[in-house]
Amino acid sequence: MANHYHARVNSASMSASLLYLLVPVGVGASLYVIRKLREWKWGWVRNNTPLRGKVYIITGANTGLGYETALALATRQATVIMACRSMDRAGEAIRRIRQKTQEGELIPIELDLASFASIRDFSEAIKSRYPSFDCLINNAGLAMQEPTYTKENYEVHFGVNHLGHFLLVDLLKDNIRANAARIVIVSSKMHERAKIDFDNLGKWVERGRGDRFNNLYNNSKLMNFYYARELYKQGYNVHVLCPGLCHTDFFRSYNPKWYHYVMFAPVVLLFLRSARQGAQNIIHCATDNVNTEEKNPVTGYFVTNVEQTKSKMKFDEETSERLWRESFKALNV
Ligand SMILES: NC(=O)c1ccc[n+]([C@@H]2O[C@H](COP(=O)([O-])OP(=O)(O)OC[C@H]3O[C@@H](n4cnc5c(N)ncnc54)[C@H](OP(=O)(O)O)[C@@H]3O)[C@@H](O)[C@H]2O)c1
Repeated sequence: MANHYHARVNSASMSASLLYLLVPVGVGASLYVIRKLREWKWGWVRNNTPLRGKVYIITGANTGLGYETALALATRQATVIMACRSMDRAGEAIRRIRQKTQEGELIPIELDLASFASIRDFSEAIKSRYPSFDCLINNAGLAMQEPTYTKENYEVHFGVNHLGHFLLVDLLKDNIRANAARIVIVSSKMHERAKIDFDNLGKWVERGRGDRFNNLYNNSKLMNFYYARELYKQGYNVHVLCPGLCHTDFFRSYNPKWYHYVMFAPVVLLFLRSARQGAQNIIHCATDNVNTEEKNPVTGYFVTNVEQTKSKMKFDEETSERLWRESFKALNV
């Protein structure tokens, strides 16, 4: 009788231990499957055509998405001009790429998008050394917590993310037109939460107490989209994209507390992509035929998850044209 009782207790405790083991293994396995399904949905570029002889310019190529794009294009034998604000950081990125591939050519040229003089010097260098480049990738961008300004005194989200690239394209427009070069604009889905504040264009506006997002950054990403639309209307071969939430140096000016890591763990699991995965969207726009009559920046489509996706933003032509005019005005300082 006692033996029988002990056997029952033993088997109950074994089932409990098994449960303790199976539950975490089951949860772990399910999370792994969910993560893999999401990675599959986020998409990969399948096209692997060699790009020998093609010249790509990438702004902000020393880290994050720009770096991964440079690596992928070099692997496909392209010539990649790495337009970076620090030649040391560009050199370090080239050293890292060279540990992975000996293919392609990697050319660092200094470009600080927060300085008109630097943008002018850079475009002169391109015009004399690589006048017939094939593609310009406007990738560099940043989000700041504290007021930060460009050399011409514009707050950096407007100044670097939008205006710096606006000036760059303007200075290179004859070459872009002559070569029918492609322009790839790295925007963000956050453009859908933005609004262009013309009264404060280029000025630092403090975040309101209840503001969950960095509106200056989001607004600059909406400007990227409006800008892509205007260029498309003018006949440029332009593509606009969102890479998704990616693990890069982008959040360097944020100072997370330990509990943020706990709070955001599910977001990381479900939404955070590797830089390599996010860069697939840039590589797709830079190397595949993406725009169609129905799906292009003017009809409100952008590339995300390596496919054309309709933006929720209601674009209006008045804002579009006004941004173009105001941006030109902002160059005359
Ligand atoms: N990561 C995301 O979750 C995410 C999501 C949506 C969109 N995006 C967009 O993706 C693009 C790339 O961001 P990332 O995530 O790869 O960030 P990242 O790792 O911080 O890389 C940003 C690049 O931009 C460069 N840059 C910043 N200011 C510059 C300036 N004044 N002149 C020239 N280059 C400058 C940086 O150079 P330094 O290293 O010298 O600072 C760096 O090379 C940005 O346009 C961003 O808005 C990112």
